[in-house]
Amino acid sequence: MATERTLSIIKPDATRRNLTGKINAKFEEAGLRIVAQKRIKLSKEQAGVFYEVHKERPFYDELCEFMASEPVVVQVLEGEGAIAKNREVMGATNPADAAPGTIRAEFAESVGENSVHGSDAPETAAQEIAYFFSGLELVG
Ligand code: PPS
Repeated sequence: MATERTLSIIKPDATRRNLTGKINAKFEEAGLRIVAQKRIKLSKEQAGVFYEVHKERPFYDELCEFMASEPVVVQVLEGEGAIAKNREVMGATNPADAAPGTIRAEFAESVGENSVHGSDAPETAAQEIAYFFSGLELVG
């Protein structure tokens, strides 16, 4: 399997509860390397651009407001099959459906406030990484 990079976001519900270290430990234990990371505060407009694909969904406004409510940690994770591996470590979108031991099973509060985001495919990973990181911030 090829080495990949994926975009991860530790969401406001998790940064608020000081869970960044515990979540990062889950990534590292799964063999994912954090190759870039920064803590930022998104505006609602910036969150809106990031989640544009969900623009027509009923929760779009709520999701953008939540993502802009407190700082987030954006990060690039690298590893063999990193996109799928990260989604496995995160668990299902709804924490009620997330497998035991996954980040969302352990930490998420609801389907909206679900602690982490991870890219779902190589094309979206490339777009999402480029949205938050410049080439200079991504060391080889
Ligand atoms: S998935 O896995 O992308 O197919 O999940 P999906 O259900 O399509 O959800 C996409 C993102 O929207 C968030 N979401 C919600 N936010 C607020 N309220 C409600 N009801 C809600 N339902 C889904 C969900 O956390 C997903 O966020 P990301 O950051 O993409 O994981």
